[in-house]
Parts: sequence; C-alpha cells; structure tokens
Amino acid sequence: MPGRVIAIDGPAASGKSSVSRGVAERLGFLFVSSGHFYRAFAWGAARDGISPEQAPFWITGRKLEVRRDASGVSLLLDGENATPHLSEATTASMVSPLAAVPSVRDAVNARLRALTAEHDLVMEGRDIGSVVLPDTPWKFYLDASPEERARRRAKEGAVDSVAERDRLDSTRATAPLTIPEGAIVIDTTHLDLEGVIEAVLGRLNAEGLR
Ligand code: DC
Repeated sequence: MPGRVIAIDGPAASGKSSVSRGVAERLGFLFVSSGHFYRAFAWGAARDGISPEQAPFWITGRKLEVRRDASGVSLLLDGENATPHLSEATTASMVSPLAAVPSVRDAVNARLRALTAEHDLVMEGRDIGSVVLPDTPWKFYLDASPEERARRRAKEGAVDSVAERDRLDSTRATAPLTIPEGAIVIDTTHLDLEGVIEAVLGRLNAEGLR
C-alpha cells in the first residue's frame, strides 16, 4: 500500500523546510525536500558547465541515487554526494532556470513519486500538492510577507535573491508556484516555528490523520 503524503508548498523562505522537518519528526514520517532534488541537478549542471538549454540532453545520462539518512534523505549524483553543495552560490543561481526545464521536472517528479511506495512522507516544494502528488488529501500552502521572507533568508546567511527566485518560480510555463486546489493556507509572517508546526498538526488531526 502506498504511504501517506503530507504536501507542503510555498515560496522561498516561507518556512516550508523547518515546518516540514518538524511535522515529519512529530509524526515519524520521512522528510523530503523536493528543492534538494533540483539543487542536486543544478550543482551537477554547474559542475559540468551545462546551460539550461543543454539540460534536456544532459539529464538523460544522470544517475541520481536517493539514500535515507538521519535527517531525511541524501542525494548522490553520478556517485558523488551532492548534499554539501546544495546551498552553494553557483547551485542557487542555477536552480530556478534549471527547474523551469520540463525534462528536468519529469526526472525529479519520477524520483519523488517513487518514494511514496515505501514511506509515509512530509514532502515540501513548489508543486507537490498541485502536480507531483495532487491526490493526497493533506495539502498545505505556507506564505509570509516578502519582507519577512527576505529577513529570514538573510538570517540564514543565504546568498541568493529570494525575490528573483520567486519571480522565476511563479512565472515559468511548467508547474509554476501556485496554491494547490484544496490546500490549507497558513500565513506564517507572525508565527514562530512551533506555532506553524502546531497549526499543521492541528489541521491534520481534524482531518483524521492521527
Ligand atoms: O526550496 P528550495 O529553495 O530548496 O528550492 C530551490 C529551487 O528549486 C526553487 O527556487 C525552485 C525549484 N523547485 C521547484 O521548481 N519545484 C519544487 N517542487 C521545489 C523546488
């Protein structure tokens, strides 16, 4: 029987990763960041000097292995651990253009869907509830004001432009960032992490997950 999936979508720095990790811990589900899959390919493309235009050819030869580890999953691209490189500046600048390429999205989506065969999941991203696993009954969309998201990103010491990635992610032709049909929207601007985790768990409880 396929596992249960809690889909958590939203823009950059809306709190998706920390909230998803916390909810997964509390429920004993596996935490999966779909952004990490795009970042692993972005790192590889930058490493190999591949432009988004060349990506459809390049992606077919790539081997992306998914391993379970203490913090969720780690990713090996062509046998090399991508995890230490996911936040690098070259990866961050490549990821949105690469994620707009349909064949790259197909490659990521196939791997994300395969995970549901073996695990109960909390999966976060931009299109989990709308495209990757739209049949799950548990969908959330987290948001926060642009100012608060920029503040959170700066606090993390991140080097990329949240506003520019939001623009690219929301305006692309394939699977743009959107509020999935039926998703519960939570504005996290004035909530702390624990407050958002409790809000999600409360809704799941009300919907009969536990
Ligand atoms: O969540 P993140 O910042 O690690 O995501 C990195 C990029 O990957 C994001 O700018 C857009 C892309 N992405 C996507 O297009 N679809 C997803 N489901 C997750 C991420």
